[in-house]
Amino acid sequence: MTPDLVIRNARVLTCEPSRSGLGLIDHGAIAVHDGVIVWVGSDDDRPGATRVIDAGGKLVTPGLVDCHTHAIFAGDRANEFAMRAAGKGYLEIAAAGGGISATLGPTRAATDQALIALTSARLDAAVATGTTTIEIKSGYDLTVAGELRLLRCVAVCAQRPAPRIVPTLLAHLVPPDRKADRSAFVLEICDRLIPEVARARLATSVDVYCDEGAFTLAETRSILGAARSAGLAVRGHVGQFTDLGAAELLSELSALSADHLEQISDPGIDALAAAGVVAVMLPGACVQLRLPVPPIERLRRAGVPMAIASDLNPGSSFSSDLPLQLWLATTHFGMTVEEAWLGVTRHAARAIGVATAGRLASNVPADMIVWSCDDPATVPYQYGASRILIDTVFVGGLET
Ligand code: NIG
Ligand code: FE
Repeated sequence: MTPDLVIRNARVLTCEPSRSGLGLIDHGAIAVHDGVIVWVGSDDDRPGATRVIDAGGKLVTPGLVDCHTHAIFAGDRANEFAMRAAGKGYLEIAAAGGGISATLGPTRAATDQALIALTSARLDAAVATGTTTIEIKSGYDLTVAGELRLLRCVAVCAQRPAPRIVPTLLAHLVPPDRKADRSAFVLEICDRLIPEVARARLATSVDVYCDEGAFTLAETRSILGAARSAGLAVRGHVGQFTDLGAAELLSELSALSADHLEQISDPGIDALAAAGVVAVMLPGACVQLRLPVPPIERLRRAGVPMAIASDLNPGSSFSSDLPLQLWLATTHFGMTVEEAWLGVTRHAARAIGVATAGRLASNVPADMIVWSCDDPATVPYQYGASRILIDTVFVGGLET
């Protein structure tokens, strides 16, 4: 079999765990056949191919993996951004009727067609900045029928050739009109919504926002327990404002990831490390809400794998630009360039339970980026310039 594509003369950032660090092959090449990588190695040993691309010594990396987004919603909350810029807090605005519940009305009112169009435009923007796999959470309807509708719209978006989509059911909030009977609402999620999502295969995992103003630890335990019983993976938004002990719960349930973590105790970190739960850092949301930086050094010392995501949402982070998050992760969070790259590749893939994304190796889909620079540090260093730095994005061996 002659490969249908070889990219040669490249600095190949494999992000392979079998190689050290970022798994860089300095004078490397990649062979692709039928959309799948069939060979990675030294340029000197490269096979022949129907089509050869000379990368000119530039960087070739895995396509980026955005493991935490809320990409399906209607409306925007620019007014809240302006209020925060003038000094108001996120929780203060939420308590006054803004926040997540302010996005419920526009999302519920939007037709399927409108939601799919809005989400598709966001996905196009994500691919343009290098994202080839993206997780999308529901969570801006918060009725049983409405959350199912959002996930069905996500399934329609998933028929696009790029990016690859991983859907998640998100228990985001007890909506204002259910506050008086919140235990009945939690029961609906556990007994009706989750089983139907699992039956119709509308999501691969369930996420709960366990924090001040959202779900309690006991409610989170019920919802994630129902998810596990239905055979779905579990994750959580935890410790963005207050540490309610959810990191320990997620560890007990062998969760894929614990996300945010601005507030987390040492026992919480030890629990994540022992259970192999990925800590998902969301620097864009953290900076925008002026929150304290998560304890990167403690997470690092404990050996917790760290991913980095955009948190694309209308409230705290209206951006799908992962290279920009690399900049914030390195400059504001104090992550190394190597940690930041693994955070948007291999570790991000692990946070969504996808073993074949975020690395360049034989038998994984040929999702890759050819950059116009040769140093991995250049991507965060020249922040905001990804449209210039990205030469070509391939998904399944095809140029997007
Ligand atoms: O991840 N923290 C909860 N959810 C989102 C914010 C959603 C919103 O404000 O609409 C987040 O930051
Ligand atoms: Fe989020």
